[in-house]
Amino acid sequence: MDLERAVLVQVEFSAQRQQETLHELVLLARSAGVEVVDTVRCRRQRPDSRYYVGSGIAQSLADQVIASELTVLIFNHDLSPAQTRNLERCCQCRVIDRTTLILDIFSQRARSYEGKLQVELAQLRHLSSRLVRGWDNAERQKGGIGLRGPGETKLETDRRLLRQRVTALRQRLDKMTKQREQGRQARQRAAVPVLALVGYTNAGKSSLFNRLTQANVHAADQLFATLDPTLRRLELAHFGDVVLADTVGFIRELPHDLVAAFKSTLQETQDADLVLLVVDYADGDYPAKLAQVQKVLAEIGASEVPQLLVWNKIDQCALVPRIDRDEDDLPQAVYLSAQTGEGVPLLLDAIRQRLAQHYLRLTLSLPADAGVWRARLHQLHAVEQEHFTEQGTTELRISVSATDWGRLLQQSKGRLENYIVSEPLF
Ligand code: GTP
Repeated sequence: MDLERAVLVQVEFSAQRQQETLHELVLLARSAGVEVVDTVRCRRQRPDSRYYVGSGIAQSLADQVIASELTVLIFNHDLSPAQTRNLERCCQCRVIDRTTLILDIFSQRARSYEGKLQVELAQLRHLSSRLVRGWDNAERQKGGIGLRGPGETKLETDRRLLRQRVTALRQRLDKMTKQREQGRQARQRAAVPVLALVGYTNAGKSSLFNRLTQANVHAADQLFATLDPTLRRLELAHFGDVVLADTVGFIRELPHDLVAAFKSTLQETQDADLVLLVVDYADGDYPAKLAQVQKVLAEIGASEVPQLLVWNKIDQCALVPRIDRDEDDLPQAVYLSAQTGEGVPLLLDAIRQRLAQHYLRLTLSLPADAGVWRARLHQLHAVEQEHFTEQGTTELRISVSATDWGRLLQQSKGRLENYIVSEPLF
């Protein structure tokens, strides 16, 4: 699909912090794959009931749609269905609001099944109040922001189906929440360690993601890229493969009913082996933002996942790259610049040292009567390679988290330790 071309519109009711939120909207639009052609700011006492903006501005937007061949107008506000409809008629162009834009980004980034359901539920709820709109359906069939996920044409044809879908989604989500609480859902561990990049919007996650993956082109990249552009496989020298996952950035003034959907996009973070918490060191407001990220990580149950702080943008603060370590000499923070690349080798080093703490790579030789442990290791997705010998033993190369290994040792009353072979067999 061609890149969408948009003008972003912001109405200022007071002079406070408006510039910042408009800048944030530009970043959000770019995250959704939109080319921002222009931004329009205007002042009003209160929203206009017909167009939100005044009719003069609405008319000039209509002119700009034609002159700049825009495909969408994005408002940094929540619009009523009537305002959306009137604007679409006046400007002959799709109009979306801030919530729709954010939901669109979430729907692109949600990966876990539960996350996808949460986002779909939020999209349906948001759409249900906007079922009748003026813009023609042929245009909608093409897709684009605000049109991914549940199809609006379908919704328009049958409100009853919509209600049924919302109910079904709620029930499924409730069930999943219960299962999680009861601890029945087995933790899905990947055979390769997963690193999750987390941080406030604009902290530099995507720049770091690109920097790390460019420096580390892997044969499986293409496959990963087509499956999910926010997941990449990295080969860490002297360690092995890891998966790097980019997450959706934290956003100021997140509409209240989107909080659950946002958190669910971060849910994979719970199962990560290491969280890379990216902070914009040049941003004066970073302590508050960092505190907010930590708070949400705790709320989604990811505060137990080991963290490595990445102080980014040191090029703007005249700092040199360095690693901060704790009393055990383990890296806790890395100062770098994703843009210039300085400090990135230090980050790779720090990641390697931190993962080595939490991940074991072992070779085992299991006798024929230890099939139960072989099965457990497969269940944990820990087996990287295995082969069977003529003597009836199974030789396995495993990659396992220290926690899982500790648990297995306990369950086997230490027996598994006897099967470790020091020299790799294959
Ligand atoms: P979201 O996708 O909104 O969550 O943002 P992000 O955290 O992925 O940030 P992104 O990588 O898009 O970077 C935001 C802005 O900061 C861009 O304009 C980058 O060029 C800039 N940036 C990122 N890293 C650095 C850095 O090390 N130094 C400087 N000077 N700018 C940087």
